[in-house]
Amino acid sequence: MFEVEKIRGEFPILQQSVYGKPLVYLDNGATAQKPRCVIERVAELYRTENANIHRGVHYLSERCTALYEDARKTVGEALGTNDMGEVVFTAGATAAINTVAYSFCEGFLSEGDNIVVSEMEHHSNIVPWQMMCQRKGAQLRVLPFDDEGALRMECLDGLIDEHTKVVAVTQASNTLGTMPDLKPIVERAHSVGAVVVVDGCQGFVHSEVNVKELDCDFYAFSSHKLYGPNGVGVLYGKREWLEKMPPFLGGGDMVKRVSFEKTTYADLPLKFEAGTANYIDAIGLAEAIKFLRTLDRKGILAHEKSLLDYATEELGKVEGLRIYGTTPDKCSIVSFNVEGVHNFDLGAVLDRSGVAIRTGMHCAEPVMAHFGVQGMARASFALYNTMEEVDTLVAAVKKAVRMLR
Ligand code: ALA
Repeated sequence: MFEVEKIRGEFPILQQSVYGKPLVYLDNGATAQKPRCVIERVAELYRTENANIHRGVHYLSERCTALYEDARKTVGEALGTNDMGEVVFTAGATAAINTVAYSFCEGFLSEGDNIVVSEMEHHSNIVPWQMMCQRKGAQLRVLPFDDEGALRMECLDGLIDEHTKVVAVTQASNTLGTMPDLKPIVERAHSVGAVVVVDGCQGFVHSEVNVKELDCDFYAFSSHKLYGPNGVGVLYGKREWLEKMPPFLGGGDMVKRVSFEKTTYADLPLKFEAGTANYIDAIGLAEAIKFLRTLDRKGILAHEKSLLDYATEELGKVEGLRIYGTTPDKCSIVSFNVEGVHNFDLGAVLDRSGVAIRTGMHCAEPVMAHFGVQGMARASFALYNTMEEVDTLVAAVKKAVRMLR
């Protein structure tokens, strides 16, 4: 039995009211709330353990370094790799994708090559690739999706050819909730020697991940969507590629020797961790992963699916409401619009009922363009949300529609 009330008790922020109404937080796709253990771990680190890592011989520095490297092991285990050289801490998923985009393309993308991204990508998995295509004279190609929000896999063969160097695709769309079958994409990309970069921001939260089974070459996710602290993310990369790629940022910690004539770089993963890493929040991320490990993972996924199914059914009864993204295996994200109602107005009225949803383009303007809309309302569910909160959402939507139409 999945004990949602017990879990909610671990999240202090959820205990509050806004505008005199109990907070119903349904903007988890943007950022998830943090359990007490993460908040307290981060505070404890600052209170008693903080010192810069990899740089000191003193007690606190050595202790913090060990905690940081232990955090890497926890993240590596969660991803499914035993090789800590493959686990790079970054400032977030955007920084992780920009790191691969710059480093990989600097080394391996040439004029006349192409990069394939899907039409449902977050801007973070489009713009870095577009920038590198412009810089190198390469072409950006787009794998489209259909009106249900499923990737049109029949287009794969035509898009990926011997000039394709990168295929960048999401594991779960932050707008449509679609979780594409990545296997055929990985196989097709590898058949022409291209690498696959997976945006795991939503996928890592809403599914069980093993990067080795997935056989992707790179995988990026951010801590703050996984109940961890903000400001830290992870880039997994296959060692064979990370070894060959030039570093992205230069500075301290990513070097072996420095002289004005020549600099040699640190071994993996530090080659990609220039400057003082956000070690406090990386340790906080490990705490979030350990917290999730104490819970029933399958139970969480089943609970999220029940929330999704219930919300889909009940919102579907609202006259003039259209849900975007209707694939059968989607994750717990529901984007929608109501005829005659602007998504911002809807969001503002819901807010006054204590319900926090996201409005606008969700950093996925091409998805909006596909459906010919300027924005969408989005409810995204996390492990601590309840069926009663879905009822509150639906009642608030109905009330807003009555007011705004
Ligand atoms: N990318 C985040 C979202 O989906 C911010 O809302």
